[in-house]
Amino acid sequence: MLVSAAEMLKKAKAGHYAVGQFNINNLEWTKAVLLTAQENNSPVILGVSEGAGKYMAGYKTVVGMVNGMLEELKITVPVALHLDHGSYDACYKCIEAGFSSIMFDGSHYPIEENIEKTKELVKVCAEKGISLEAEVGSIGGEEDGVIGMGECADPKECKAIADLGIDFLAAGIGNIHGKYPENWAGLSFETLDAIQQLTGEMPLVLHGGTGIPTDMIKKAIDLGVSKINVNTECQLSFAAATRKYVEEGKDQQGKGYDPRKLLAPGFEAIKETVKEKMEIFGSVGKA
Ligand code: 13P
Repeated sequence: MLVSAAEMLKKAKAGHYAVGQFNINNLEWTKAVLLTAQENNSPVILGVSEGAGKYMAGYKTVVGMVNGMLEELKITVPVALHLDHGSYDACYKCIEAGFSSIMFDGSHYPIEENIEKTKELVKVCAEKGISLEAEVGSIGGEEDGVIGMGECADPKECKAIADLGIDFLAAGIGNIHGKYPENWAGLSFETLDAIQQLTGEMPLVLHGGTGIPTDMIKKAIDLGVSKINVNTECQLSFAAATRKYVEEGKDQQGKGYDPRKLLAPGFEAIKETVKEKMEIFGSVGKA
């Protein structure tokens, strides 16, 4: 059964480790992440962006697929199904569809409006036992070939949002989605420290987990990060393994064109990446 992410992240914050949110794109992705979590006895969060939800034929399809897998694959570790960077409307759709956790990304609204909408969702989520992530300060990334640098969140605004009764908070600390550019300045630990001082027990979320050096990840966990989002890195390992299979001509040997064979190396590559991340985050054995 899907669970809210509130409890697992409270435990992670108290135990000084982080739980990975791995974004899913299709059946192979979902199965790879769930099996790796089970094999490593780790709690896990499945992230679904609005785009991925649409790609997978809608949120209800995703809920059906994930619930089916939990049962058929006998997954017993805690699993949350989480909307990633949800708009106000998408949050309601996912609550309705049966997600166990949502992120309302109101970071592009003026802070007053972000607070107002987050407050409303706190109430709705609490009634349903769904966990809620909010965001302050934008997280950069590539858009139309231009890489926007992440802007650092204002710790006081973080405190204002944290106090609304959300379960965990994403705060921009110079992190960005996708690959980091050569001239990236690194995470702002000064900002993270200031945020954690004001928000106390609140589990903090680090987006853009792909490509952040291990020492920075560990330092971020020391400073209160309890959830780390990873998306691009699984896509890169899936693509590399699939490319290798095709370049070696394996799809043209025997029944190598069978999707169950063609997608197998990519599937294994996702499992390997997820396992590596769980080890670095310290969530192995914490289910
Ligand atoms: P990456 O794609 O950089 O790993 O970021 C994932 C993320 O933060 C999803 O919200």
